[in-house]
Amino acid sequence: MEPKIVAFCCKWCSSAGADLAGTSRMKYPPNIRIIRVMCSGRIEPSYILRALELGADGVIVTGCHLGDCHYIAGNEQAKKRVEMTTELLETMGIDPRRLRLEWISASEGARFASVMTDFVEEIKELGPSPLGGVS
Ligand code: FES
Repeated sequence: MEPKIVAFCCKWCSSAGADLAGTSRMKYPPNIRIIRVMCSGRIEPSYILRALELGADGVIVTGCHLGDCHYIAGNEQAKKRVEMTTELLETMGIDPRRLRLEWISASEGARFASVMTDFVEEIKELGPSPLGGVS
């Protein structure tokens, strides 16, 4: 299904928010492929670039709200890395809107659904990634 979206979700908050959206039967587009990680601070720029290289049209990194990270400051680290990766994408001629960072708590199932819906719509408007991808 186009566009292909990779969502990195931390186990403690945004992934639980995704579960809540699912169990509450909140609708969001089926384009999202969730990759669960222990903390958003674990997402390295190379993971994001690799996802785009392998065919993702957009990548969204999500984690606990600032101050709520279960590993103290992992999400602050994620913020810095996403900012750095955004600059890198611009240098590479890739629209930086293909990468987004959002904080979503475990109780925010509705927010998870609306953020994902909005991101899919934005990537649809941008069209397929210029990187193409191998899959
Ligand atoms: Fe969720 Fe760190 S544990 S962002």
